[in-house]
Amino acid sequence: MASSESTQPPPPLSTTDAEPAVPTESEPLLGRPGDAIQKPDAPMFLNLVLGTAWLSQLGALLLLVTTWSAVFLHKLGVLISPHPLLQSLGTFLLIQAILILQPTSTPAAKRTGQRIHASLHLLSFLSFISGITVIETNKHVNHNAHLHSLHGYLGVITGTLLFAQYMFGIGIWLVPGIFGGEEKAKALWKYHRYGGYLLLVLVLATIGAAADTDYSKGVLKIEGWTFGLGIALVVVGVFPRVQLRKLGIDRSR
Ligand code: HEM
Repeated sequence: MASSESTQPPPPLSTTDAEPAVPTESEPLLGRPGDAIQKPDAPMFLNLVLGTAWLSQLGALLLLVTTWSAVFLHKLGVLISPHPLLQSLGTFLLIQAILILQPTSTPAAKRTGQRIHASLHLLSFLSFISGITVIETNKHVNHNAHLHSLHGYLGVITGTLLFAQYMFGIGIWLVPGIFGGEEKAKALWKYHRYGGYLLLVLVLATIGAAADTDYSKGVLKIEGWTFGLGIALVVVGVFPRVQLRKLGIDRSR
């Protein structure tokens, strides 16, 4: 099993707040080193709120609570209500899967983080696949047109790319042989990360477009700004924590 892409020791961390942090190759996209790097003795669950992550948590909760309350406060339908419930739950879990892994730096933390990341993604995947099955069954039973809205197009594209991304990650992790061996497979992690961030943007765009469907506006009475604010908070919480070194960008050279 390829558990971590690097056996190099992590770069030195700034240990006190008083020390001015020296920029290193592990500097996050925004902010200073240490803002979003898990300290060697820190518990893994703190990664979920470390640095700017708490902003993402606010956004993720806003999207989840807005959707679930809108569904349960309005007319329920067996072949429609589970779709927004499951898709917003899947999105919430997907955000947690990213946040838990982002700040890991030591090989041991990366290994544990990868297991939690994969488990959260499995739950997220089951949620997405069930929600998409519900909406496609709805369309089939009621003879409704596919690709009826921007959300429909984005939903199909995002669902398909998510599936490819899961297969890519599982392949590198569990069967590196298909990529020519463990070393070659490990070198592909950075593309999985690029794919992951691109997919997060696509998932959020799909959610944003969902607010503009006739059902969301007419039945669920979702206010577009609540989804807009939730999406913005997720973005400003996740992207400043991107570790450039993990994307293969070494700014120390
Ligand atoms: C990442 C999250 C989501 C994904 C991947 C997703 C995916 C999809 C897919 C694949 C379809 C069917 C498209 C077709 O066959 O043409 C669809 C339709 C639909 N979704 Fe979502 N969805 C998501 C979130 C949501 C949310 C949060 C809501 C409501 C608040 C929602 C409401 C709807 C509605 C009303 C339709 C039918 C309208 C249409 O197809 O134009 N979806 N979605």
